Amino acid sequence: MFEGKTYIITGIADKHSLAMYVAKEIIRNRGNVICTGLGVSAHHQNLSENALNFLNKSYELFESSVKEELGEDIETYVLDVTLDESINDFSEALKTKHQTVDGLLHAIAMDKTIRNKEVKPLLEVTFNEFCDTMHVSAFSLVTLVSSLKHHDLLNNGSSICSLSYIAAQKVTFHPYRNISIAKAALERITIELADELGRKNGIRVNCVRFSPYLGSKAGTATLNTSDVEHAEHKSPLGNALPQDLAYEVTHLLRPDARITGEIRHVDGGYNIVG
Ligand SMILES: NC(=O)c1ccc[n+]([C@@H]2O[C@H](COP(=O)([O-])OP(=O)(O)OC[C@H]3O[C@@H](n4cnc5c(N)ncnc54)[C@H](O)[C@@H]3O)[C@@H](O)[C@H]2O)c1
Repeated sequence: MFEGKTYIITGIADKHSLAMYVAKEIIRNRGNVICTGLGVSAHHQNLSENALNFLNKSYELFESSVKEELGEDIETYVLDVTLDESINDFSEALKTKHQTVDGLLHAIAMDKTIRNKEVKPLLEVTFNEFCDTMHVSAFSLVTLVSSLKHHDLLNNGSSICSLSYIAAQKVTFHPYRNISIAKAALERITIELADELGRKNGIRVNCVRFSPYLGSKAGTATLNTSDVEHAEHKSPLGNALPQDLAYEVTHLLRPDARITGEIRHVDGGYNIVG
């Protein structure tokens, strides 16, 4: 399905990341992947020792997980979407290698208003916290795609996919608050980009809402076991698994699909129940 095609995979933190399942599925279907991970870039300034340790450890874990799970020859790059210069460096590096791509998985989210599974009430969220979450979890799709386009790295007919959840639309088993608003923005960005890029370059942009998943770092940091159990019982088919997500994302990324602007559900049917 993906012979001769290359996809950028963002958002791998470790082997349990949802993005890792997608990367594996692309490779299983004979495609190539280029993986980006959060780490220290040349443009970080005045990092505290804690922040430096965190970023270095994140990158080490990302890189070793990619090499172990996907293969030693997979190319890896530092990418911090909060820094436009880091995004630019990544695009420049691909350009230097004459590497164009056929699509992108956006699997990046961050919300500092959820700590130890405690969610800050929306009325206590500061403007900076709101903007940080929006920047990393939603607007980064615009900046990333914009940079790739600016460097002429996205082949015509490319396909882009991002990851969301039902909380973008309605209040559910978990009071996500701040990040829900960013996910709603991410979904709207998906639709606007689908129109803009579809008309100009035949590029498709879709988003998939997935079931709650405790296995990843993001899932462990935000979800309680009771949230996952609640969704499991409410969903007609039970919660979807990461491999179900990987099948759907690769379906949307495949070169010959005429599907764009979709907000898909891979959630065992949770969304249809009242
Ligand atoms: N876990 C769930 O229950 C669930 C459900 C539906 C959707 N999602 C979405 O799936 C995506 C992947 O999440 P996951 O569950 O695999 O968790 P994860 O922790 O494995 O992935 C989140 C990724 O975001 C990256 N990230 C955070 N800030 C960044 C920055 N400034 N620059 C670059 N990367 C940054 C992290 O390094 C990490 O790789 C997220 O968008 C998440 O919201 C998760």
